[in-house]
Amino acid sequence: MDHPQTTRPLTTNLFLFFLLISSNLLTFFLFSSTSCSFTNPTTTSNVPSPRISEDVYVVDDESQRLPPEFIAFISPEELPFGYTKNFDSDTIYPPVGQSCTLFADELRHYMSYKVNGSCPDDELLAQKLLLKGCEPLPRRRCRPSAPAKYAEPLPLPTSLWSTPSDASVVWTAYTCKNYACLINRMRTQKGFDDCKDCFDLNGREKTRWTATNSGGGLDFAIDEVLGTKKPGTIRIGLDIGGGTGTFAVRMRERNITIVTTSMNLNGPFNSFIASRGVVPLYLSISQRLPFFDNTLDIVHSMHVLSNWIPTTLLHFLLFDVYRVLRPGGLFWLDHFFCVEEQFEEVYAPLIDNIGFKKVKWVVGRKLDRGPELREMYLSALLEKPLKNSW
Ligand SMILES: *[C@@H]1O[C@H](CO)[C@@H](O)[C@H](O)[C@H]1NC(C)=O
Ligand SMILES: *[C@@H]1O[C@H](CO)[C@@H](O)[C@H](O)[C@H]1NC(C)=O
Repeated sequence: MDHPQTTRPLTTNLFLFFLLISSNLLTFFLFSSTSCSFTNPTTTSNVPSPRISEDVYVVDDESQRLPPEFIAFISPEELPFGYTKNFDSDTIYPPVGQSCTLFADELRHYMSYKVNGSCPDDELLAQKLLLKGCEPLPRRRCRPSAPAKYAEPLPLPTSLWSTPSDASVVWTAYTCKNYACLINRMRTQKGFDDCKDCFDLNGREKTRWTATNSGGGLDFAIDEVLGTKKPGTIRIGLDIGGGTGTFAVRMRERNITIVTTSMNLNGPFNSFIASRGVVPLYLSISQRLPFFDNTLDIVHSMHVLSNWIPTTLLHFLLFDVYRVLRPGGLFWLDHFFCVEEQFEEVYAPLIDNIGFKKVKWVVGRKLDRGPELREMYLSALLEKPLKNSW
């Protein structure tokens, strides 16, 4: 294929150039006219009126200044063909996480780059911003950092159970700088890391969810779960916080398509999942699930939905799982954990009240951090009723 740069006519380049310039001017214009809406309410009340300084930042307080490229992205734009019935509007407002503007300082770093140039190598900053509520992150007009000598993925089905090339990852954000380090870190590194042993495909990953009989324990097997439904009727679904994507790989082996959400907490989880040949979704547990109502056959989540999530957020999340599941769809809540008292007082009623039918409900003790902590697990298989009231 031709390189677009070499074949693109001069007029196109001029047009693009114009687009860049004009959008920057537009930014300036919009910024000057709508600046009040982006100032922090607490500062505006003390400031008589916003002033426009020569460097296009308007807010007086240095720490509250929002970067022009951010304003460029979120500013309303008129639709080229005017009023559109589907939108019921003639204007579009590109969205970002409602909390982005609370973190002006980080946002300024995140949005500082040359338009049409390379993005800074700032995955860690971006993820922190996202995790505390700036989600979705604003789009950027730059190219992300990429490995110097990118290695293309292994072919299917080999890719499903192979460690990918180190050259498929930008390692800057992680303690480990190659896959060998990630595979060995369970043995060689002290301290906690999320999914510390998950990159070793010959370790625990190899046998997860494959036991032929869970014996009534907390570890349900995939085939046992699928066996509760008519063959072939579980086809598509979601794994929330799915580590290195082994659940999706196991399901793929059964011709079931699973999308895996994951963050990159001290490891290239998204790159790894993608290299295996299943779909990673870079989405935190705070974000509304990007699926329509009543569409998915199964939602699974292991070790993620637990007592570290604020209760109200968890309540919203569980309703969101209920929403995206189709009637008759399965919610496999795998190893939810909390403290014993919390379970009786908070979580059992909370989960109970969403409206799922209990297919399996197994409670057991969690002892990995010592019995004195009185921690416990719940593994549940829940079904959205075929006739659910609304
Ligand atoms: C944008 O970047 C590309 C790739 O570096 C370059 O070919 C193109 O000329 C640039 N366009 C403008 C308008 O600067
Ligand atoms: C998956 O689909 C392929 C192609 O349709 C088929 O040959 C294979 O037997 C299926 N595997 C399972 C486990 O259903």
